[in-house]
Amino acid sequence: MEIEKVGVVGCGLMGSGIAEVAAKANFDVIVREVSDALVEAGRDRIRRSLDRAVEGEKLTEADRDAAWTRLRFSTELSDLSDRHLVIEAIVEDVKAKNELFATLDELCGPETILASNTSSLTITDMAAATGRPDRVVGLHFFSPVPVMKLVEVVRTIVTSDEAFNSAYAFAERLGKKPIVAQDNSGFVVNLLLVPYLLDAIRQLERGIASVEDIDRAMTLGLGHPLGPLALCDFVGIDTVYRISEIMFDEYRESRYAPPPLLKRIVAMGRFGKKTGQGFYDWSGDQPVPLPL
Ligand code: 3HC
Repeated sequence: MEIEKVGVVGCGLMGSGIAEVAAKANFDVIVREVSDALVEAGRDRIRRSLDRAVEGEKLTEADRDAAWTRLRFSTELSDLSDRHLVIEAIVEDVKAKNELFATLDELCGPETILASNTSSLTITDMAAATGRPDRVVGLHFFSPVPVMKLVEVVRTIVTSDEAFNSAYAFAERLGKKPIVAQDNSGFVVNLLLVPYLLDAIRQLERGIASVEDIDRAMTLGLGHPLGPLALCDFVGIDTVYRISEIMFDEYRESRYAPPPLLKRIVAMGRFGKKTGQGFYDWSGDQPVPLPL
């Protein structure tokens, strides 16, 4: 089946990026959010990103305008019923995702491929909530979606070759570089990244170095674009916490357990860049490390 019509459920940071790259790659896209206010916020986010791509000379004005016409927004899941592929990018909560997959399974035609952008839950859980487990895959994107080239394409033990190959080809048509991963919590990237981020927080807890110096170590020593603590702020500290809880629950290994300091920062509502404060204060031109 040739994928032409794409649905995206959730228009937050990831969903808006996925919708944007799909529209830029000539797909007909419908994005669903739960309220008019969230539709507006998501629409604005996509528009700002498209404008930024034009400013950075990554996209012509004509291509931006054409992509914009390929995007539609809705608050009704039933509007996704004619889609060839639906990608879920909602909250990282297994109950919410399973309910969504069960509903999409009822609404969509039998050929529709259902995909999840989950970062730490297993695709098998969502597949099992549907009557088409062979047509459920993982499509895990990286933030910022328009910039990061990788997509992890994930198959479970029952994913059909046909559905998997269609999803893989879709990622390529977006201009991304896919890798193949078997279904497991964290796939390839987060299985490596999450213990690394948590270890950086443990270093801080043990007083080994300051926030600034831990990040400087990894940017200047290894050439990473961001140090681990700035990356936590970028991904969202609440998200890092949620992912580590899910991975710890799955593997029961201490390397995935959220360090107490992470819990304290989340309890204070310091979720990183999106709330203005995390390990850094992001209100000025340059991030300033906060005392912890
Ligand atoms: N559309 C298209 N291109 C864009 C764009 C947009 N909306 N916004 C920026 N760009 C381009 C710019 O034009 C620029 O291109 P150039 O290098 O050719 O000039 C490039 O992206 C970098 O943009 P900026 O110069 O404005 O910004 P920075 O130099 O500050 O880089 C960053 C920003 C690319 C985000 C960099 O900080 C980075 O690489 N950070 C790490 C990101 C990362 O690790 N992401 C993964 C997070 S983990 C994840 O998502 C998984 C989850 O499950 C946890």
